[in-house]
Amino acid sequence: MQDKQLGSYRISAIGFGGAPLSVPGRPDRERAMKTIKEAWENGITFFDTADTYSLNEHDLGHNEQLFADSLPSAPGCVIATKSGLARPDGAWTRSAHPRSLRAACERSLTLLRRDVHPLYYLHAPDPEVPFAESFGELSRLQEEGKIEHLGLSNVSVAECEAALDIANVAAVQNRYHLFERSSSDVLAFCESRRILFVAYSPFGGPGQSSRLRQDPLLQDLASAYEASPYQIVLAWMMARSPQLLPIPGATRPDSIRDSAQAVRLRLSSEDLAKLDAHDTPSAR
Ligand SMILES: NC(=O)c1ccc[n+]([C@@H]2O[C@H](COP(=O)([O-])OP(=O)(O)OC[C@H]3O[C@@H](n4cnc5c(N)ncnc54)[C@H](OP(=O)(O)O)[C@@H]3O)[C@@H](O)[C@H]2O)c1
Repeated sequence: MQDKQLGSYRISAIGFGGAPLSVPGRPDRERAMKTIKEAWENGITFFDTADTYSLNEHDLGHNEQLFADSLPSAPGCVIATKSGLARPDGAWTRSAHPRSLRAACERSLTLLRRDVHPLYYLHAPDPEVPFAESFGELSRLQEEGKIEHLGLSNVSVAECEAALDIANVAAVQNRYHLFERSSSDVLAFCESRRILFVAYSPFGGPGQSSRLRQDPLLQDLASAYEASPYQIVLAWMMARSPQLLPIPGATRPDSIRDSAQAVRLRLSSEDLAKLDAHDTPSAR
């Protein structure tokens, strides 16, 4: 698979997001591990997890454990994780106090069976905690050798700038897909600073992903290129910016195998222009 640069690592141009394997509606452990292995066997070397990809607060680390149990500890395999959220009774809340970030970072090192995180993100700024305190703690963990590269998620351009006053940022992970481009300013900022922009929920998330199959333009392009509508979307995303790296999720090996193959797809400039203009789903 083609690759991208993440600090000192070469990583695949499409990653794999693990959330659907651990949140409510998740598959059994055997299918989850098969899906992760399928990603690896199809050339994906960049994996996305978080301490909170779980059912609730009693299940923290479920997703990290799955990755640790499924993937080889090869140097070319990069598992990025995050902290800064909490799951009380299964809800998603913010929790980026320096103490909890430190504890989560250390717990994740143990679960992932390593001494240093190659990439560790602040999952989201916490309105109850000054941003510089949260990100400052991650920067201290980096100075202590527990984190190699720092990342941010769910941030604005102003928050990216505030972070860069504290430490280097290797990756920013925001929601971005064909029908959701509100982070275009953050993408442009990342391009200007050569920061990797990791696009999460590239198909709109598990609840929305099936609507791509109903979209007439995607159907037409899929049939013209003998590809799936998902591959068309990923090919468009990768063509959008050399800094953009999508991380599709999946609960089925077939889905991630299909997504991984999008790296080979090249859309014509005319078709890319049609997709650029296609920012809301349409119906025939
Ligand atoms: N930083 C954050 O706050 C944040 C928030 C959300 C997500 N994320 C990350 O981003 C990752 C991806 O987002 P997501 O999982 O929410 O949503 P997504 O990637 O937009 O959609 C995942 C869904 O798309 C389906 N799918 C994927 N590839 C397919 C294919 N080639 N053909 C048919 N169906 C396909 C999967 O179906 P099947 O289940 O049938 O395989 C899965 O349910 C997450 O796993 C997580 O790592 C981060």
